[in-house]
Amino acid sequence: MELPRRAVFLLGALLALAAVVWSQETCLCKNNKRTTDCSLVNGVCLCKSIGLNITVDCRTLTSKCVLMKAEVIGLKTGRRKKPDTAYVDNDGIYDPECDAEGNFKPKQCNGTETCWCVNSAGARRTEKGDRNITCQEVVRTSWIIIEAKHLERNTATGEGSIEGTIGNAFSERYQLDQKYISVMYEKPFITVNLKQNASEKTINDVDIADVAYYFEKDVKGDTIFSDKSGVKFAEPLQFENTVIYYVDDKPPEFSMKHLTAGVIAVIVVVVLAIVVGILVLIFTRRKRGKYEKAEVKEMNEMHRELNS
Ligand SMILES: *[C@@H]1O[C@H](CO)[C@@H](O)[C@H](O)[C@H]1NC(C)=O
Ligand SMILES: *[C@@H]1O[C@H](CO)[C@@H](O)[C@H](O)[C@H]1NC(C)=O
Repeated sequence: MELPRRAVFLLGALLALAAVVWSQETCLCKNNKRTTDCSLVNGVCLCKSIGLNITVDCRTLTSKCVLMKAEVIGLKTGRRKKPDTAYVDNDGIYDPECDAEGNFKPKQCNGTETCWCVNSAGARRTEKGDRNITCQEVVRTSWIIIEAKHLERNTATGEGSIEGTIGNAFSERYQLDQKYISVMYEKPFITVNLKQNASEKTINDVDIADVAYYFEKDVKGDTIFSDKSGVKFAEPLQFENTVIYYVDDKPPEFSMKHLTAGVIAVIVVVVLAIVVGILVLIFTRRKRGKYEKAEVKEMNEMHRELNS
């Protein structure tokens, strides 16, 4: 009887162990697929972000810096099969430095050679320099303009309802309070203004920079949400030629770059913000499904081109 008793004991021990493991229930991180080690703690799904020792609260959006870090790690380890340098370039993706809260540090470098200063959306706002470049602070991006052309729908709908639909979709999908969103529709162009300054933003608010990033990834068909059913944004409204403008509290400090053809159309919107500096990232869908290089431009130059 010695053997069975030992077996029973062993079985019991295993069951107890299983119960302990089981009680740490795993969960799916609804708002961030780039996570690992998820567990349910007091009904809240908490995970580790890939590549950083930062806890992700899956009830809300994850900060852009943390998301970019996870993506870059994924690219490096080959977890996601996108070793396409064009993709990396065009996305403005680099291996970011995040602070303990998951926000961008003011100075970002590529490898050891090249460094630059970024805004709170992680977009470059200065010339590239060497390691000695100093970045005093992260300049806040308080206004983000998303301009997109929407593909024709079959059903005729009034303009008011298109604006309302998109406003609601932004608010619901990205958890952003309606008061930060305004939508303008001038067929077929849709302009979404996200305005949120530092004094308005409360601790419970998602940041407009994170919202814009989730949107950008949605438009590119690489949603950050783990819920695949939501991959398409606000169907049947589909966007093309999406342009995202970052308006910082202070003008950016980079020199002029030349503009590609086809960009003229978006300049009108920029003029609205002529008094403030603007960073422009252009994402144009190419035939092969790639994206054109992001252009960074100074306001003066755009203004000149507009008037010429
Ligand atoms: C960093 O930037 C330099 C110059 O822009 C480029 O030649 C180099 O490939 C980049 N390195 C990495 C790791 O991206
Ligand atoms: C922030 O925005 C609010 C509402 O638009 C405005 O009343 C306030 O003056 C702004 N604060 C700063 C510091 O710009």
